[in-house]
Amino acid sequence: MQKGGTGKTTTAICLAAGFVLQNKKVLVIDLDPQANLTVASGIDPLEHPTIYDCLKDPKVKASGLIIQSPYGFDIIPANLSLSSAEAQLVGAVNRDRKLANKIKEIEREGLVYDYVIVDCSPSLGILTLMALTAANSVLIPLQCQQFAAFGLNDFLETMKLVQSELNSELHLLGILLTMYDARTRMSRTIAQEIREVMGEQVFNAVIKFSTALAEVPTRGPIQAYDPRHEVAFTYNELAKEIIENDEKDHR
Ligand SMILES: Nc1ncnc2c1ncn2[C@@H]1O[C@H](COP(=O)(O)OP(=O)(O)OP(=O)(O)O)[C@@H](O)[C@H]1O
Ligand SMILES: [Mg+2]
Repeated sequence: MQKGGTGKTTTAICLAAGFVLQNKKVLVIDLDPQANLTVASGIDPLEHPTIYDCLKDPKVKASGLIIQSPYGFDIIPANLSLSSAEAQLVGAVNRDRKLANKIKEIEREGLVYDYVIVDCSPSLGILTLMALTAANSVLIPLQCQQFAAFGLNDFLETMKLVQSELNSELHLLGILLTMYDARTRMSRTIAQEIREVMGEQVFNAVIKFSTALAEVPTRGPIQAYDPRHEVAFTYNELAKEIIENDEKDHR
């Protein structure tokens, strides 16, 4: 997930909660030194070892870093120490594959997750490349508030590069229209244009602009504190849509 302040972290945690409601086993990995996902998941980022520990030290197993969040999904937290990863890992052998290898190791140990969600930082640095190398697919939240859509092409180009150089399996899971406000022409235009260009790759679920989501960073997924809210419902619908698409692909 890319682009500053588009709703990546909000989507990561609310989608995780949506999957949990569908009885899926979910691991979220915070790969952003800002640690917003960690804090929103009710975890103190200074109290636990973090994803950085296993990226910098091959002997540290990722499975030992997993914590149960109060919201039914597991989490590997981050904290600010992760910001030094960019500099530290610059020359590391196979650095782009580091996260992929750690996730594979979790699977080899017999810990099975239906979905592993990695929350990325807004920069397209080494950490995000690692995430794209580890991922099967990318969900892009696209803000219908300003012309955030301009960044979409650049990101799709980066994805293509990663596909050809680092991870041929990588595909676009879908584009999620977020912060949609039907009252503004801007939102309607962006949504319409993106659907024209990207067609089926845009999720049917559209996340409306909602101040109720402002509480996610301190109170966790909206499904936990306001389960009847329309946006909670939409994130649950998004989870179902992704599960249904997966089932279609496996048929
Ligand atoms: N649908 C929405 N309606 C209104 N506000 C929203 C919505 N989604 C997210 N926000 C708010 O927008 C801000 C940015 O959201 P979020 O932290 O999820 O973005 P991000 O992409 O993870 O940002 P960053 O790139 O800094 O990691 C937060 O204050 C959040 O509460
Ligand atoms: Mg974020």
